[in-house]
Amino acid sequence: MTTTLAAGALDQIFGGARSNHRFDDRAIGDDTLRQLYELTKLAPTGFNAQPARYVFVRSAEAKARLAPVLSSSNRDKTLAAPLNAIVAWDSRFFEHLPQLLPGRDVAAYFVEEEPIRSAGVFNAALQAAFLIVAARSLGLDAGPMTGFNAAALDREFFPDGRLRSLLVLNLGYGDRSEIRERGPRLAFEDAVRVL
Ligand SMILES: Cc1cc2nc3c(=O)[nH]c(=O)nc-3n(C[C@H](O)[C@H](O)[C@H](O)COP(=O)(O)O)c2cc1C
Repeated sequence: MTTTLAAGALDQIFGGARSNHRFDDRAIGDDTLRQLYELTKLAPTGFNAQPARYVFVRSAEAKARLAPVLSSSNRDKTLAAPLNAIVAWDSRFFEHLPQLLPGRDVAAYFVEEEPIRSAGVFNAALQAAFLIVAARSLGLDAGPMTGFNAAALDREFFPDGRLRSLLVLNLGYGDRSEIRERGPRLAFEDAVRVL
């Protein structure tokens, strides 16, 4: 039976969840990373194309490669986080469609650069949103960031040019002791029309 989540679960994913960049010192193990992907992979995407690719940056060596591409205001907190997830999109995601969308030939949609880019970015962004929700579902906090030099990140982590970064997420078990008040949200009346 499907039903509305219990109040505690809803609070963990929405009301009580924050974009958080400060964490306690608990590490994120490989089993948790696998669980995180197993949930995230179920995100809906156009043609089931799943263009997002993920790089989990955990070692000191990998963090040292990430550090120079971060904006100065994001650098310290990103390096201090137990783990950083780079979410990128695969500019040749459509090559996987015979496997991911068996029985349908949609190659004609993915010939020109612009529809490839817009579908890749749009769907990978949806997947990134699911990654945040999956992280919260597993008791983690996520701090999304676009404050980095994407071209420099791509040169460092994706030198063959195929993957293109969209977002870096700081992940860990949140320390809320110094978090700012949550920003206001638009009211239903201001954001929604029911026709
Ligand atoms: C696409 C995106 C880019 C963001 N970039 C940054 C960033 O570069 N640095 C930062 O500290 N926070 C960044 N944030 C965090 C937002 O400021 C935060 O999600 C928003 O204020 C809502 O906060 P809340 O989830 O705690 O309510 C980003 C969030 C998103 C979704």
